[in-house]
Amino acid sequence: MSIVVRGAVEPCPEFHLPPADPCTVVIFGAVGDLARRKLLPALATLANEGCLSQGFDIVGVARRSFDDATYREQMRRELPSLTTEAWQRVAPSLHFVPGELGDPKTYVRLAQRLEEIERRQRRPANRVYYCSVPPSLALPIVNHLGDLGLARQERGWTRIVLEKPFGRNLAEARLLNAEVARVFGEDQVFRIDHYLGKDTVQNILVFRFGNTLFEPVWNRNYVDYVTITAAESSGVGTRAGYYEEAGALRDMVANHLLQLLALAAMEPPVAFEANAVRNQKVQVLQAIRPWSAEEIRQRSVRGQYVRGFVQDQRVLGYREEPNVDPASLVETYAALELRVENWRWAGVPFYLRTGKRLTTTVTEIVVHFKRTPQALFARTPREFIEPNTVVLRIQPQEGIAIAFGAKRPGPEMRTSTVHMEFDYQRAFRVRLPDAYVVLVLDVMRGDATLFTRGDEVEAQWQIIDPIKTAWDQGLVPLVFYPAGSAGPPEADALLARQGHRWRPLTSAAPLVLTNPDVGG
Ligand code: BG6
Repeated sequence: MSIVVRGAVEPCPEFHLPPADPCTVVIFGAVGDLARRKLLPALATLANEGCLSQGFDIVGVARRSFDDATYREQMRRELPSLTTEAWQRVAPSLHFVPGELGDPKTYVRLAQRLEEIERRQRRPANRVYYCSVPPSLALPIVNHLGDLGLARQERGWTRIVLEKPFGRNLAEARLLNAEVARVFGEDQVFRIDHYLGKDTVQNILVFRFGNTLFEPVWNRNYVDYVTITAAESSGVGTRAGYYEEAGALRDMVANHLLQLLALAAMEPPVAFEANAVRNQKVQVLQAIRPWSAEEIRQRSVRGQYVRGFVQDQRVLGYREEPNVDPASLVETYAALELRVENWRWAGVPFYLRTGKRLTTTVTEIVVHFKRTPQALFARTPREFIEPNTVVLRIQPQEGIAIAFGAKRPGPEMRTSTVHMEFDYQRAFRVRLPDAYVVLVLDVMRGDATLFTRGDEVEAQWQIIDPIKTAWDQGLVPLVFYPAGSAGPPEADALLARQGHRWRPLTSAAPLVLTNPDVGG
């Protein structure tokens, strides 16, 4: 028996979509952190929302000596939000195949199990292979699937989902892409960057290309500079093993931040369709010239948190966290300036920053426009109206704010910066779906628009590799910042040199700090 879901033949009510094809989702690394925290809850949400077709199964594959019953018990504990009724529907669809991911016999058992399920369900062999594993294991999985012919699409479709990181540098990404391409066609490959599943990230394109108002000024003639921030108040948590290898540059900049940049800077695609969108993103990434060592020295900052206070809680420094080398040189903060050297953006700095254990958690893009050419309303040179800004707040308090100058009431000609705001929650009165819910459904529907393509990932590494190399060679000193601060002052200096500044770190609503003194 498999999950009998509400609305099996009706459109998926929450997402206004027809339900996905019946399929089996194979989760490699089924008891890992990501599978338990994100993937299974996302599948449970889809089941509750009626987005899964009748005849839907999950097969967990991992080293544990589980059977179906113990896997179900374990998953029951992991999914406390599921109602008893929903759980009774979901439980029979959960299956488990124990085995080492590097052992060919695991895949023989998996193939038998999949055929058994499909035969019993009398349905096509539609399969999603979800690699919820570290990158070193993705390659053996792909190869074993290939060796047993499990990627073939004769009796249904097959798709593979790869989690980031896609290798640790350009060479590894190329190798992984080449190996994957030996077994799967690019249209079968779904590389997840979960930021693309966030509604507010997709809204960047709607804001830009669904309105006539903003696009005419979205270029070097009007934009002074752009800042992109992904700040987190949390520390490295239990992921030190991974993080010691990755650092902030590979963990956040190489993927999420570059994706935000690409969406903010890309040209309009000819259609909102996978290849059209990805073609334009690749063009932007390829227009970012990799920096020379000297440019990296001047235009990047790497930091690491030391102990401090986050929201009044005393927290450890990075080197004191469990499983972190007490002399670790891994960065937990990265800030850099990039240039998109194309017709639209020549001369406009794009500043990126991300860090752990900062004062608050906030992700946003701020487009800072140029000053007016004439200070018509300034009584003294100090009293310029603040330049316009557009804040695209990705999370939390999701929304958009526009800052502009206005006359203060009264007989004098005095000005202030005021704000127009759009707040997602207030406007639509819905909770935004988790990115994984959106992305998993897209995989099952075969829509790759929100996934990164092989050449895109390689273009990202092309930008990051020289920075990583220069950092490893010690060309940029590691600076320290107290946990709970806004990051190292060196990151402010990076912008100040060009008369620019970050927006103060705040996750509060309203989005824009209203300062009635600004502008006179
Ligand atoms: C992950 C990183 O990709 O994104 C984490 O590995 C980071 O280190 C996380 O905390 C942030 O995602 P979100 O959705 O919470 O902004």
